[in-house]
Amino acid sequence: MSPEALSGEVAAGSRQENASGEANPPARWHPALVALHWLTLILIAAQFLIASPMQDETRNLVERFELYQLHKSIGLTVAGFVVARLLLRLLVKPPPSANDGRLLRFASDAVHAGLYLCVVALPVTGLLLAASSPIQIPTLYFGLFQVPHPIGPDKATYELMLRLHDFAGNALLALGAVHFAAAAVHVVFWRDNLLRRMWFGSRKAQPSLRA
Ligand code: HEM
Ligand code: HEM
Repeated sequence: MSPEALSGEVAAGSRQENASGEANPPARWHPALVALHWLTLILIAAQFLIASPMQDETRNLVERFELYQLHKSIGLTVAGFVVARLLLRLLVKPPPSANDGRLLRFASDAVHAGLYLCVVALPVTGLLLAASSPIQIPTLYFGLFQVPHPIGPDKATYELMLRLHDFAGNALLALGAVHFAAAAVHVVFWRDNLLRRMWFGSRKAQPSLRA
């Protein structure tokens, strides 16, 4: 969307909301959602980086144990962030859609919903996978306390969770690539400063966001 279109949409959104007696829609995402969005990205990148050395059977067992604990602890932190994010999403107003047309809006909402689904599925299947593993290894949250395993060892569950965890990881990579490409199209081709909506700053519609 062009800057003019974005500014027009923000302005139009404001007018509509004013007409119906509600407050103006914000120009950006809430700062807590912004912080959680970028922190989640960093933690997810760390998860993918840790996953391969942690599974490398040629590595020292103690090192692998520590990498598994780190992977499980970071993954559970992502779960906490996602819960906080979903609660905040219900409580605070989002900015108006950055996309013109129903199809684009639908596509963008569908990708966002898919990303949320993956970051919920990964910690759930991860914990169930660790819990149902035939080799019982405790889950120690950053070495601070032991996380209770909700189920016991079970080969069939373990194999299913392993497949689902793997699938959710691949789906996250695929949707993440689409999401990244869409953000790049906004910024590079449409030059609409979309990235600023996912960064800190005043939430009132500002000329800087439109220019
Ligand atoms: C956003 C969070 C997470 C991401 C992105 C993630 C990603 C991954 C990836 C990419 C793999 C390698 C999969 C493969 O090679 O097939 C993996 C494996 C694994 N993950 Fe996660 N994970 C997450 C959360 C968790 C959590 C919370 C736990 C446990 C509490 C967990 C436990 C495991 C285990 C035990 C394996 C190794 C499976 C095996 O034995 O091969 N993960 N994870
Ligand atoms: C380099 C990678 C990424 C970039 C450049 C990026 C950029 C953005 C931008 C600019 C927005 C705002 C869109 C708007 O205002 O309409 C956004 C929203 C969003 N992003 Fe990302 N993002 C990245 C990675 C991720 C990842 C890994 C996830 C997975 C959890 C994610 C999940 C979301 C979701 C769910 C939204 C919608 C806002 C919400 O409902 O909270 N993003 N992203």
